[in-house]
Amino acid sequence: MCTSGITVLSDIQLGSYILPNRIVMAPMTRNRAGPGNAPTALNVEYYAQRASAGLIVTEASQISPEGVGYPATPGIYSAEQISGWRQVTEAVHDRGGRIFLQLWHVGRISHPAMLPNGILPVAPSAIKPAGHARTDAGHQDFVTPRALDLAEIPAIVEQYRHGARNAMDAGFDGVEIHGANGYLLDQFLRDGTNHRADAYGGSLENRARLMLEVVAAVCSVWDGHRVGIRLSPLQPYNDMYDSNPEMTFTYMVEQLNPFGLAYLHIAETGKERPGVAGPPFDLKLLRQCRKGLLIVNGEYDLATANAALADGDADMVAFGRLFLANPDLPLRFSRRTQLNTPDPATFYGGNQHGYTDYPFSDTQG
Ligand code: PHB
Repeated sequence: MCTSGITVLSDIQLGSYILPNRIVMAPMTRNRAGPGNAPTALNVEYYAQRASAGLIVTEASQISPEGVGYPATPGIYSAEQISGWRQVTEAVHDRGGRIFLQLWHVGRISHPAMLPNGILPVAPSAIKPAGHARTDAGHQDFVTPRALDLAEIPAIVEQYRHGARNAMDAGFDGVEIHGANGYLLDQFLRDGTNHRADAYGGSLENRARLMLEVVAAVCSVWDGHRVGIRLSPLQPYNDMYDSNPEMTFTYMVEQLNPFGLAYLHIAETGKERPGVAGPPFDLKLLRQCRKGLLIVNGEYDLATANAALADGDADMVAFGRLFLANPDLPLRFSRRTQLNTPDPATFYGGNQHGYTDYPFSDTQG
């Protein structure tokens, strides 16, 4: 039942920014970065086309060469990458938009073929994920990762701090910590992937430790109100499981509250397949635990997004596929014009086709 007049087109204050609408462009891997994992002019055009979003969250971007897991994904650790991203942020700002960079380390979701000197991927524990890595040489079986030594963990935290600092140099408005979808921080948090017996494993407090240390490190660079975090409590993707997601994620959200983060971003994937990534629970519980702004993401359309906002279940809604196929999504929502259909064949990799050539509504007959 609608309890307020708020819609996706209502403005909202996010930290110190006033956003003209509540439509977030969700982070989406598109595998079109250039040599050296640096953004190119094509990436500049793609993001600039979508500057009417209330907020853009970039595709996940590696904080170090050891955090790479896929072909042609951008990074935020080299000078070349920073300067590529600077072109992106300038183009988005020129069009009046705001853009956060998503900080990423894939952990075990990689392959020696993607890593410097063919090293093993790192993870909380030496547990091989089911499935295949998408490498430059095609799909290859995942390997058993190397469990990070306790002494190596501070350097990982430093990589996040460094990435956050580089994002500032690249002109971003803030950063989003990728704590979701089975990548490194999520691997530490959920007990299916974390079998450690030291200060970073075992108890829930220990499993949450790395994520919280990363949040603290990133908040030493950026004010908390320019930092968001993404979690995916029910996401089975990347062979993820937790024996008690309700306890794990309500705890995590409560621990995050004191940081005063700009937002909590919940990827709801998995809620349609209850029980796969762990016992199901009602994600609305996280709304109750969260003190501050909440973004939801998961197959919303205009009607369901407006209902979620009006009912107070979220403050903003992130759109993935709809935004990749409709560069002017806010305008289309406001005019209730027909939407372009996303083409899965061009989601990952390739050229401008299926990337920057989706038509704007005012160029359609
Ligand atoms: C992917 O490339 O499949 C991918 C990357 C980042 C995500 C989820 C999926 O958060």
